[in-house]
Amino acid sequence: MEDFFKALDNFESFKDKLKNTKLTPNFTMLLYGPPGTGKTSLTRAFAKEYNIPICVVETHKLISSLLGETIKKLSQVVKDAAEIAEKNGKFILFFDEIDAVGSERSNVHEVGEIKRAVISFLQSIDDITKKSVPLAIFGATNHQHQLDSAIWRRFTFHLEFNFPNYELRKLIIESFISRIRDAGIEVDQDIFNNLNEEFNKIQSITNELGKDLSEDIIIDELNKFYEKKGLISLSQGYSGSDIERGTRVALFKAIGSYHDSTLTHKMLRKSLKLVGGTSIHVERQGVLSSSINVDDSQKSLSYDIDFSNYEELINDLPKIIPIIEKIYDILKNKKELKTQYQTGNKILGEFINIIIEISKLLV
Ligand SMILES: Nc1ncnc2c1ncn2[C@@H]1O[C@H](COP(=O)(O)OP(=O)(O)OP(=O)(O)O)[C@@H](O)[C@H]1O
Ligand SMILES: [Mg+2]
Repeated sequence: MEDFFKALDNFESFKDKLKNTKLTPNFTMLLYGPPGTGKTSLTRAFAKEYNIPICVVETHKLISSLLGETIKKLSQVVKDAAEIAEKNGKFILFFDEIDAVGSERSNVHEVGEIKRAVISFLQSIDDITKKSVPLAIFGATNHQHQLDSAIWRRFTFHLEFNFPNYELRKLIIESFISRIRDAGIEVDQDIFNNLNEEFNKIQSITNELGKDLSEDIIIDELNKFYEKKGLISLSQGYSGSDIERGTRVALFKAIGSYHDSTLTHKMLRKSLKLVGGTSIHVERQGVLSSSINVDDSQKSLSYDIDFSNYEELINDLPKIIPIIEKIYDILKNKKELKTQYQTGNKILGEFINIIIEISKLLV
């Protein structure tokens, strides 16, 4: 991102240097990753630092039920931005949720129509980049798997965003809390002390067990020391935006408290727990939208059966048989099951419902 902005900042000299290569300076970047991980805000922050005006377009608002209208609006936005860039110098056009143009999620159009909208959209971007105006075009999506590959390819840079790791989560929590303290609201020093203590424990675990450990293992290990999870481990799977929401909730609690409006560690912990993390939703979406490959599932089933446990299995048969009978009943009466999950695939939906019913028997 830094290199991109530096080059954009020196657009003219960059263009001159490229002259003999017959390459045009193509300032396009695609940002992808889960919601709330900073795609829009990081770009805005860089734009501010380099003092380059930015226009964030809510792409889905340009999609109309009339294909002609959609194409017209999209190309008009690009043309207008290019005109501003030509007249006033550097300019950034940021298409948020760019997948609204190039995916079957935009259900106002048929598949063929979507393709036409995509082609025309890309055409208008191409026209501009060929002219070498100082315009940078960003696209952002958190549905990268549904993004039309033609859009994907058109962007020179691809930048992946992800949920913050423990080091970054500590920094994000500290930065929000410091901001509150700088605004004159009392913040309990315990928050900082606990964060440091938890962080030091994590460091000593990684020093002891190795740096390449997955965060899941580190956090599991960490929680052996604590009765209640600390803020860093509690916020695993949280986006920066989730942490921000949690801090906001805690702030409401602090300001609304009868005593002295101090933001305490307990308040922050409770609030973070209350808002929850986004990663769990993203994982669930991934499971529901992935296809099931029958061959693969059969393969893994056969590997999973461990015959050394056969004796154990026989001992447990009296417990297992009634469950199997129930499963048999469920399968027989599966028509009566309500479809609780709309996956767009009837068989998959039904399959998930059966699994849910079975899991109820097992708990
Ligand atoms: N890494 C981070 N550090 C600090 N704050 C962050 C971070 N990531 C996200 N945030 C906070 O979360 C808010 C929302 O982030 P942002 O809108 O940039 O996410 P996004 O990736 O564009 O999400 P979406 O895909 O939903 O558009 C920001 O205002 C910022 O305060
Ligand atoms: Mg965004």
